[in-house]
Amino acid sequence: MRLASILPKLSRWTRAALALGGTALLAGCNINFWQMDGHQTTMQTSGPVAKSQLEVFYVTCWVTLVIFLIVGGVLAYATVKFKARNAADEHAEPPEQSHGNPLIEISLIGLSVLSLVIIAIPTIKAIGYTYDVPEEERENAYEVTATGYQWWFKFNYPSEQIDGVGDLVTANELVIPAGRPVRVNLRTLDVIHSFWVPKLAGKVDMIPNRGNHLWMQADEPGYFWGQCAEYCGESHAVMRFRVIALTEEDFAHWVARKKAPARTVEINNADANDLPKAQFASFKPREYGFTDKWDADAEIPPLDNWKQQQFPAKDENSHLIAKGRKLFQEKTCLACHKVRGHEGLGITGPDLTHIGSRTTIAGGLLENNPDQMARWLLHPEIVKPGNKMYTTGYVPNNITLSSEEVSALVAYLESLK
Ligand code: CUA
Repeated sequence: MRLASILPKLSRWTRAALALGGTALLAGCNINFWQMDGHQTTMQTSGPVAKSQLEVFYVTCWVTLVIFLIVGGVLAYATVKFKARNAADEHAEPPEQSHGNPLIEISLIGLSVLSLVIIAIPTIKAIGYTYDVPEEERENAYEVTATGYQWWFKFNYPSEQIDGVGDLVTANELVIPAGRPVRVNLRTLDVIHSFWVPKLAGKVDMIPNRGNHLWMQADEPGYFWGQCAEYCGESHAVMRFRVIALTEEDFAHWVARKKAPARTVEINNADANDLPKAQFASFKPREYGFTDKWDADAEIPPLDNWKQQQFPAKDENSHLIAKGRKLFQEKTCLACHKVRGHEGLGITGPDLTHIGSRTTIAGGLLENNPDQMARWLLHPEIVKPGNKMYTTGYVPNNITLSSEEVSALVAYLESLK
């Protein structure tokens, strides 16, 4: 039997119960809808900028809720009170119509203006506050430059200079000192992107030929999710990044480690006889093998997981790594990427000097582990449609990788801590 023919036969209470049950079921499927504790929720803030943005949201929410209740209440009252109850009612003349009531009209205009003022005051204050680091904090602010590319983020640290190189540069994971304002200069190399770290700050567009900026501050050390928030092409939805806030001491250590050139693993002759078998032969490109490492109740909290990622893996094979380093040149990876201290001059792709120490690859999309790295190298076009590694790297250079080659490249890249 069709739903349309069943529905009219049910009493109105049954229909109401069904509608409520359906809504509850839908809401239940997405628990975050109620809890609002997702990685990218704006309802739980971790810094003053996001907090001031949330406060504006609440003010607007409460004012509109009051308006909704008044208008909805009057409407409901009138609907019930003046409803036609019998045939005589239906044909009755309408009550006498008045035209214009100065008291009502003036109060309506006055109340509308009042509600706008109530919303405008905190809004204007927040616009001023979030625009730039407050005057008295400027001395203390740390500065970084974020540049949007299709589809990843580059981060420059102008205050961390490397002799003969220039700025310290990294990609997709922005490491900042906690408890200190950070001014982020926003640039783009191609189209308009938008920089957004929901729990810290955003969104501000990265516009070609226009220098934008924002500021943010993480109250405590933490691991935060970021996302491009402006449609920028095929893989916009997977243009992600992370912000890692560290204590001043940890941050200084991080900077020192990242300023160093790429790590070189000493060749150990015993490793030649102990080469692991190619591991990724049966890999299916469309299987999204995410682990729960990033969930709020994961076994290892995300920041601790990030800290562990800074150390070399115990099962490294120096021969495989050396082979991977050679392949990095032969397969022309070096034309777009740079491994400072090793090979590569490329600047169109992310700097890979310390890629092994990041928790994410492919522009914040995949967890950085050997399986996901192999998946990314074998099937970049499927993981991230339209990406430049595929369209301007793999296709013109006719790059194909055997499973042995992928194993070596993965070992090399993961060794770059
Ligand atoms: Cu970059 Cu959307």
